[in-house]
Amino acid sequence: MQLLDGKFVSEKLKQQIAVEAAEILEKTGRKPHLVAILIGHDGGSETYVASKIKNCEKVGFNSTLYRYESSITEEELLKKIDEINQDPETDGILVQLPLPKHISADKVTEKISPEKDVDGFHPVNLGRMQRNLPSFLPATPYGILLMLQEYGIETSGKHCVVIGRSNIVGSPMSILMARNTNPGNCTVTICHSKTPDIKKFSLDADILIVAIGKKNFVTADMVKDGAIVIDVGMNREISTETKSGYKLYGDVDFVNVAPKASWITPVPGGVGLMTIVGLLKNTLASAKKEIY
Ligand code: GUN
Repeated sequence: MQLLDGKFVSEKLKQQIAVEAAEILEKTGRKPHLVAILIGHDGGSETYVASKIKNCEKVGFNSTLYRYESSITEEELLKKIDEINQDPETDGILVQLPLPKHISADKVTEKISPEKDVDGFHPVNLGRMQRNLPSFLPATPYGILLMLQEYGIETSGKHCVVIGRSNIVGSPMSILMARNTNPGNCTVTICHSKTPDIKKFSLDADILIVAIGKKNFVTADMVKDGAIVIDVGMNREISTETKSGYKLYGDVDFVNVAPKASWITPVPGGVGLMTIVGLLKNTLASAKKEIY
């Protein structure tokens, strides 16, 4: 078994991003600028947004965080997004999900200008992605592609099974793995909560990508010998063992699955760190006007 080491790869790629950010500053006199919007006080969202902001600083980007209470109306939020869309000093906008129930994630996603949609969630970017046109790729799937690329993992002709069909991970991931690109060119199966026997499919996976949001969902009996296992799970549980008071668990029973896998991502230290790299690369691409 070999580890797909998100810490190592993310640090390496962030160094490259920092070099490019410095070049942009030198050429244009400005840094790439990410604006993040965080609504409410969800513990996970607070942690992820703080990490995004901190990493912007690390690579030499500007960042702005707008915080709102959960009582903000949908109309107020949409108006704010419109304002940021118009601001020439902003390269990327993200609204951290999930949102309070009274705010439509679909409306918010569609309000963000596709040209600043560094999360890659806008239907225009998703459509362009599917057509293999230049687009911002959703940050987590993008981070996974970068990881596979970095380790030189051959995906062409493999059977990739994606467990989970969310808009953020499972659905775009399945499209990317089936595209005629490298990484890609897989035969893809998507499993989800209504799939009666997930094990039947997962056992046939050469590449198993798990984004279902359930601790230890994938057990050793569900994995083929030699499979490549990518764990997107970020299941937070209260713990006295850590400084933060929380411990992160993946969707894969790492201890028992790892001995069967050829490659596997740990949690923490795997995909989560690569998501931030995906976001930073999209923001950089926006500042360089590489997509639009
Ligand atoms: N919530 C969970 N993952 C993400 C992400 O990649 N972007 C945003 N905006 N919210 C999220």
